[in-house]
Amino acid sequence: MRAAKEPGRPAPGKDGFEGGNAVRVVVGVTGASGAIYGYSLVRTLNELGVELDMVVTRMGEQVLAFECGVKKPELARYGRIWANDNMFAPIASGTYLTDGMVVMPCSMNSLGAMANGVGDTLLYRAASVHLKERRPLILVPRETPLHLIHLQNMERLALAGAQIMPASPGFYHRPKEIWELTSFMVARVLDALHIDHDLMERWGKHMAPRTE
Ligand SMILES: Cc1cc2nc3c(=O)[nH]c(=O)nc-3n(C[C@H](O)[C@H](O)[C@H](O)COP(=O)(O)O)c2cc1C
Repeated sequence: MRAAKEPGRPAPGKDGFEGGNAVRVVVGVTGASGAIYGYSLVRTLNELGVELDMVVTRMGEQVLAFECGVKKPELARYGRIWANDNMFAPIASGTYLTDGMVVMPCSMNSLGAMANGVGDTLLYRAASVHLKERRPLILVPRETPLHLIHLQNMERLALAGAQIMPASPGFYHRPKEIWELTSFMVARVLDALHIDHDLMERWGKHMAPRTE
């Protein structure tokens, strides 16, 4: 994994865009519940010095405002936001190098579109680019219960190379606050992207039950 740039400092450009050797990640936020996951991810990646390209769907924007009271301009503090109908955005092309893409939270609607190769929005196109370029595509779906088509869509995406990481935080770190649950999921996403972090203690360090 390339090293993250120093937080707050623009890295030198090498391909006509900002970035240089900084880690560059695409984050999609859709209209599933759990907007706080996406918001936490974006803030954490920015804190770690990761260069961010973001796409927020129309419903993603509404659920983010409804659940977190956060509007798009607030997200823009952490990276570039591209309009979901802007097919001229760099992330629509495989020539724009990234270290991976995360859709968090991922609605069943977007999951279904991505599972079927739909490419008529920037979010779907960028996801498709990550699959075809064999780059990490991490999807954090949120829905319950799941019907057969949801499950089949997840299977298709997993077979195509995506990593399905359901928004289902563990409780073995004994969380007391909501942020401890969101951090659990953000930490798993960072692990999948091979980005160093110390968001939570790893199992086996101090938390494992005593051996006999
Ligand atoms: C408050 C709220 C919560 C929602 N939660 C979910 C959810 O958890 N999972 C889901 O798949 N859809 C959920 N939806 C429905 C999606 O927003 C809807 O299917 C929408 O078309 C998704 O569009 P998008 O994929 O373009 O973001 C929710 C809608 C609202 C208003």
